[in-house]
Amino acid sequence: MSKKSNETSYISARESRRISRENQKITRRLDKRLARKHVPEGEYLTQMRDAGNVVEFDNLHTYFFTDVGTVKAVDGVTFEVPVGKTVGIVGESGCGKSVTSLSLMQLVQRPNGQIVDGAIRLNLGDKAYDVAKMPIEAMQKVRGNVVSMIFQEPMTSLNPVFRIGFQLDEVIALHNPHMSKEAVKARSIESIKMVGIADAEGIYERYPHELSGGMRQRIVIAMALACNPRLIIADEPTTALDVTIQAQILELLRNLKSEINASIMLITHDLGVIAEMADYVVVMYAGRVVEKGLAKEVFLDPRHPYTIGLMESKPVINKTVERLYSIPGAVPNPVNMPDYCYFRDRCEKCVARCQGKYPPEVHVSDTHIVSCWRYFEEGGAK
Ligand SMILES: Nc1ncnc2c1ncn2[C@@H]1O[C@H](COP(=O)(O)OP(=O)(O)O)[C@@H](O)[C@H]1O
Ligand SMILES: [Mg+2]
Repeated sequence: MSKKSNETSYISARESRRISRENQKITRRLDKRLARKHVPEGEYLTQMRDAGNVVEFDNLHTYFFTDVGTVKAVDGVTFEVPVGKTVGIVGESGCGKSVTSLSLMQLVQRPNGQIVDGAIRLNLGDKAYDVAKMPIEAMQKVRGNVVSMIFQEPMTSLNPVFRIGFQLDEVIALHNPHMSKEAVKARSIESIKMVGIADAEGIYERYPHELSGGMRQRIVIAMALACNPRLIIADEPTTALDVTIQAQILELLRNLKSEINASIMLITHDLGVIAEMADYVVVMYAGRVVEKGLAKEVFLDPRHPYTIGLMESKPVINKTVERLYSIPGAVPNPVNMPDYCYFRDRCEKCVARCQGKYPPEVHVSDTHIVSCWRYFEEGGAK
């Protein structure tokens, strides 16, 4: 029985208990580190590799320790977000986009989810912190103030039982404890106006359910902007909205970015959104970055077979096709990741080297990097 269970993806109850015990040991140790109080700043102080970046992910590993095994949701991710730029992160569902951004906010679901390796260097202007080493206590001061997040579903990120104004006031007051009540309200109304809502005073008194989906998403954006963050993470900000509202929200984000001079990390599975918004593109697959570069490099000259597949599976106006292309196969199970290229079994362009270990990063240009054996040795030639 147990032998058979090894061959399939099922595991026995005893095995599951053993894994669970081991997991508890690991997660308890990691949680204890995070929960420490009064940790000297020196422990998580770090240096940016380039002061022109607002955040640098460096070989980040974020795992979920579950009873059926370790899910390597983010497995060695490296990329940076330059000051004032928009970086688009694209990939199929489940490839680790949200977990990457939640790691930066230290909002990965604990105790199961933990950053186990790597660094996330966050530029605070006069100094830099390594989020991977920060205790919860220190992180709370940074969250919202330096980095803020716009979630996918506006209805779930607003509390249905409180008025919009109350919720905005709460955020602003939390980060500005010395502000008077009137000043906080004025700031809330100002931020509602900023996201293009005409009747700001009226909306201030409303409840979330009284607003349309697009309006709610504007409020969520207002909330994210309320404390002038240096970086805004937008995780699928338009996925829950219909197409016309989607365009309005993107337009709004674009205008606000230049107004407040923040950087945006834009997460989406929609290449169209990336093409419109991003300066840089990061393509993720199964917890790793397979290709990254300037948006125009990745769009005009995609190199990784996965990126090429994504481009081909996007409908284009005025192009007649029999059937829309779809990438064959599915994303591998993140519990038992192979040590060879994760995309190999779905790839139609394999070369002999693909039988070997995971491909290294190959520079196509200074900014354009791809992890694929096809470009190894050839120095990036197609
Ligand atoms: N709380 C969790 N427990 C276990 N696995 C999780 C959890 N959250 C996410 N995962 C796994 O992590 C991987 C990446 O998820 P996610 O980052 O949400 O993907 P996406 O790219 O769609 O945002 C997926 O395989 C998902 O199943
Ligand atoms: Mg997601």
